[in-house]
Amino acid sequence: MTDPRTPASTPATPDADWWRDAVVYQVYPRSFADSDADGLGDVAGITSRVPYLAGLGVDAIWLSPFFPSPLADGGYDVADYRDVDPRLGTLDDFDALVRAAHAHDIRVIVDVVPNHTSSGHAWFEAALAAAPGSPERARYVFRDGTGDAGELPPSDWVSNFGGSAWTRVPDGQWYLHLFAPEQPDLDWSNPAVRADFEDTLRFWSDRGVDGFRVDVAHGLAKDLSTPYRPSNEHDLPLDGSDPLYDRDEVHEIFAAWRHVLDEYDPPRAAVAEAWAPAPRRVLYARPTELGQAFNFDLLESPFDASAFRQVIERNLAMSEQSGASSTWVLSNHDVVRHATRYALPAGTDTDAWLMTDGVSPTPDRDRGLRRARAASLLQFALPGSSYVYQGEELGLHEAAGIPRDLLQDPKWVRSGHTVKGRDGCRVPIPWTESGPSFGFGDVAPFLPQPADFGACSVSAEDGDPTSTLSLYRAALAARRRLQSGESLTWLEAPAGVVAFARHDGWHSVTNFGTDPVPLPAGHVEVASGPLSDGVLPGETTVWLS
Ligand code: NOJ
Repeated sequence: MTDPRTPASTPATPDADWWRDAVVYQVYPRSFADSDADGLGDVAGITSRVPYLAGLGVDAIWLSPFFPSPLADGGYDVADYRDVDPRLGTLDDFDALVRAAHAHDIRVIVDVVPNHTSSGHAWFEAALAAAPGSPERARYVFRDGTGDAGELPPSDWVSNFGGSAWTRVPDGQWYLHLFAPEQPDLDWSNPAVRADFEDTLRFWSDRGVDGFRVDVAHGLAKDLSTPYRPSNEHDLPLDGSDPLYDRDEVHEIFAAWRHVLDEYDPPRAAVAEAWAPAPRRVLYARPTELGQAFNFDLLESPFDASAFRQVIERNLAMSEQSGASSTWVLSNHDVVRHATRYALPAGTDTDAWLMTDGVSPTPDRDRGLRRARAASLLQFALPGSSYVYQGEELGLHEAAGIPRDLLQDPKWVRSGHTVKGRDGCRVPIPWTESGPSFGFGDVAPFLPQPADFGACSVSAEDGDPTSTLSLYRAALAARRRLQSGESLTWLEAPAGVVAFARHDGWHSVTNFGTDPVPLPAGHVEVASGPLSDGVLPGETTVWLS
């Protein structure tokens, strides 16, 4: 056994199992804090806010991509996996961020994007310059077209952002991209691709990174044999037989990654973004692979007691099976913020709603926030790790009215201007009540903020005990104090109420209905809304001990 590799910086209290019950705060770097007045958030901006994150009480930050990128997909089009986008800073700035986070005992998770590079990556540029059949092209998926003169794509596979998943290059060949044409897919059956990514994992681990979030983890292995078979990404089979997603061969790749992650002490953590059918998610989470997989089931659930309870039961059972702990997520950079989802009538198509600039149906914003607070407090009571998306701790709503000419999400163009996309949850967050960008920076931000954003700023909410920020701080502090073990016991509760106990009598009760129910006995640790006269009001969670 060789000595573990020694990283540049380590957290104050090393602990191999930190990820099992961590609260992980997702930073979308370009929208978090702008330190150099260019309208774009940057690494030094994040470092300047580490004390804020420590005060919030999070255990880790996950940084969405901050690498050099032409920004065809918000940074998920990476031109160089081992550098910082010069608009966002330098590697020295990154090292300073890791040191600052570690000094506050906050772990750092970075995003790796292995399914595709940017079309601006040196490998893709070399592939375009090289001939069909060359080793340069073999890192990607180049194929001849169909039709009399190869003028039709090799297959009918469609891109996640709309349109064909194939784009033709000047010499007539086509390349595969499951996302935008600026995101060519790598060929993971090529050993050169595998070796290079393992070096990328070492590069960031050597710099002190504690874990990785693995983008499109279920997409790396593909069945490219002909005739190409249809793919159905929205209804994947349980036997791994789709040609593009969730194939069994993907697990060899992650088993090899685990060896790399285990070269470190403590081993580096990893979490798969794998939109695989629930029973197959456990495969990615095995300790011999990434160790954890995202569970997006709460994020996809309506605000409903039985839906939440089913999701929780199923995912805790799956965690037991895989040996991982569960992950819980209500919002991230890809979906309409949960305060807004819950403000809309159940079943609202949020893409269609965004096309009305968020006016039809009219969201009930107070109700949405009340429910979001209740759902978040319930989430923090669950065993496993909990994700917080930047700004949700302020109770931010979706910025649904971004003018169409300012939209950046490739979905907007690729859908033929029928889907506005994900920019509304990526608007720079407000730190102060006024100013050119509500304290995000000194100039107008790259995406416009709603005029009322200041009311949800950190400074507006800081000293207000009823604010969402105060609720998150209180909840995360209580969670640290109370949390232990990885199980829960369901408690009897009236219809529409979800109640469970953790250890030592700590319990969480959520009234999903609108009518008040009797408040169970106990000392109130935290409540998501005002309690009165021995009742738990509707759409409210309370923690009792
Ligand atoms: C998932 C990421 O969360 C999303 O933002 C991105 O567009 C796709 N993967 C493609 O990388």
